Amino acid sequence: MLSAQDMQEAAAHGRSVKAIYVYEAPVRLWHWVNALAITILAITGYFIGSPLPSMPGEASQHFAMGYIRFAHFAAGYVLLVGFLGRIYWAFVGNQHARQLFKLPIFNPRWWREVLFELRWYLFLEPDPKKYVGHNPLAQLSMFFMVTLTMVFMICTGFALYGEGAQDGSWAHTVFTSWVIPLFGQSQDVHTWHHLGMWVMVLFVMLHVYAAVREDIMSRQSMVSTMLSGWRLFKDDKP
Ligand code: HEM
Ligand code: HEM
Repeated sequence: MLSAQDMQEAAAHGRSVKAIYVYEAPVRLWHWVNALAITILAITGYFIGSPLPSMPGEASQHFAMGYIRFAHFAAGYVLLVGFLGRIYWAFVGNQHARQLFKLPIFNPRWWREVLFELRWYLFLEPDPKKYVGHNPLAQLSMFFMVTLTMVFMICTGFALYGEGAQDGSWAHTVFTSWVIPLFGQSQDVHTWHHLGMWVMVLFVMLHVYAAVREDIMSRQSMVSTMLSGWRLFKDDKP
């Protein structure tokens, strides 16, 4: 198993490096469970905000919105527990497990590479660079559109959930008690929670596009890296 430092050393001694173990099993498991939870949350959340037209027949024979809300809350719990586990792994896992939570904002080189990646994505650079972990632009967008947005969605989501679970429930004590007053009233929390969904949907569209595009156009593996954990390099150049 080679770390980023091992790879630099190997490259410095003229040895070519073909594969590096980057994403440990808990990170990969979290990625896919989380992707599934967010997909369910976005679809069911959309229907909570814009319910289906009323259905024919006896009202007591339908529980459509009940099932939709149940799926939303169950996926909400999965999101919360997964995120807490992911935070734990940022402490005990390898350096790449911390990339979601820590931006090297005082490193001018990192900012130059953010701009480089932006130019590469816009087809303004002819050759891509190699990265062991996330590229700096991916890291920047993940920090804002996943890490921070997810904290926001968990706080606002459980604040709304605590309203239903009522005073005395853990969700009410931990979230509803301060989140609803902070926004003013329940409807404002609904609106912001709804807006947060579109931030995440936007991220997922850009992210899946970038993952597939980079798999084809970059000099390294992408999708298989999130499955096996190994980053494979397509050439020996630095
Ligand atoms: C709801 C959907 C998704 C969300 C919210 C999401 C979010 C994320 C996050 C947060 C990471 C960083 C993982 C970490 O460091 O712990 C990541 C990495 C990654 N995701 Fe996703 N993902 C989603 C769906 C997908 C899908 C469908 C694919 C495959 C096409 C994909 C491919 C990847 C790849 C390849 C990486 C690693 C990028 C790299 O090599 O640096 N993701 N994703
Ligand atoms: C990626 C994360 C999430 C997305 C995309 C999402 C999306 C949505 C959307 C679009 C709505 C409708 C808002 C409206 O227009 O009124 C909603 C409502 C709601 N969400 Fe989420 N949500 C997420 C996470 C959570 C979490 C973690 C919880 C916690 C259990 C949660 C609980 C709720 C509740 C209680 C409602 C209101 C249900 C109702 O009034 O019937 N959400 N969500």
